[in-house]
Amino acid sequence: MTPAASGPPDDAPPLDCQRDRFSLPRHVHYLNCAYMAPLSRAAEAAGIDGLRRKVVPTGIHPDDFFAPSDRARRLFAGLVGSQEPERVAIHPGASYGIATAARNLPVEEGQNLVLTGEQFPGNVYAWTRKAREAGAEVRMVGPEDGAGDASRGALWNERLLDAVDEGTAVVAVPHVHWTDGTRFGLAELGRRCRSVGAALVLDVTQSVGALPLDVSEIRPDAVVCAAYKWLLGPYSLAFAWFGPRFDDGEPLEETWIGRDRSEEFQKLVDYQESYQPGAVRYDVAERSNFALLPVALAGLELVTDWRPERVQRYCADLTGGLLEEAVELGFDVEEPRWRGEHLFGLRMPPGLDLGELRDRLSARRVVVSLRGTALRLSPNAYNDEADVTALREVLRSVVAG
Ligand SMILES: Cc1ncc(COP(=O)(O)O)c(C=O)c1O
Repeated sequence: MTPAASGPPDDAPPLDCQRDRFSLPRHVHYLNCAYMAPLSRAAEAAGIDGLRRKVVPTGIHPDDFFAPSDRARRLFAGLVGSQEPERVAIHPGASYGIATAARNLPVEEGQNLVLTGEQFPGNVYAWTRKAREAGAEVRMVGPEDGAGDASRGALWNERLLDAVDEGTAVVAVPHVHWTDGTRFGLAELGRRCRSVGAALVLDVTQSVGALPLDVSEIRPDAVVCAAYKWLLGPYSLAFAWFGPRFDDGEPLEETWIGRDRSEEFQKLVDYQESYQPGAVRYDVAERSNFALLPVALAGLELVTDWRPERVQRYCADLTGGLLEEAVELGFDVEEPRWRGEHLFGLRMPPGLDLGELRDRLSARRVVVSLRGTALRLSPNAYNDEADVTALREVLRSVVAG
């Protein structure tokens, strides 16, 4: 199975370096968006402005409880290829969306749930509890080393498809793996899930904003995404898209704003049985966060303007030469179609001194993550040649010893 192509459509001009929109110091080489994105200058200003509005709250009007939230829903829906912004809920973290999904998806005794191995814990614990309570099995499908011509990513995808069978109630997976960027072919996985009646729950925290995703093609049941990485947003905010399986579901909280006619502030004690349409019922309490939502909007607007396919191309062009040299130096990297261009691991050559590598990265102010025996690189459109050159020099020097 092949993930969707990530090149820009013919009419899209390539993205220029976006560093000027950020305040990253020149001497720091920040290649770690998978850990946490820097905020743009526009997002910083929006956050300060949002916080200040509460200093004298007379400027906060009833419409402010609704309009910015709805704009955020529209922008997020656009990034996941949905024409239905009302299917987007506003959450405090990705785990909240996963908990909502786990609460509403039925799992019966003897069924199984399929996860990828070493998945981010926020998309694991809700499922292990669900399985324990139902008497179901959890299948964590890990990678195997590549054999013959097949790469590790290709084999991992095959193993994942093979794990889904007639007894599968839920498949809960990421779009790209958080440790090394391995990419999962979600369209084919979606088809497999539908053929056995399993629900598909996606954690796209490490992709959406930088990698195209199309819910109309994949047809997942739920998609969750924390805002503080590739959406260039604040911490403590996330978005979740819910498909029709969730139309009559039960939210984790019974908020006043999630009920019908919540816009009518004078009538809030005319209690309503019905909810606002779509996934608004799943919003967290106080979702109209006057300080954080403007920051999230600035991030969503920026990545919408950049366009995920252009971010992929930008990162590929920026790191292509580095990766070629890294392979010559003895590092191993997944082939492009089974990884993100924005997130990937460099597996170390045997015997490489990890402590030495860590020290040299730190001395050169190259900020990346070490995950097991892989160096996790996660560039974005604010990175430039100087960042890549700094990393290249560290790799050369540490291999030379
Ligand atoms: C794949 C993935 N999902 C989710 C999260 C964050 O989850 P939460 O928003 O629940 O803290 C992370 C953070 O690193 C992640 O890598």
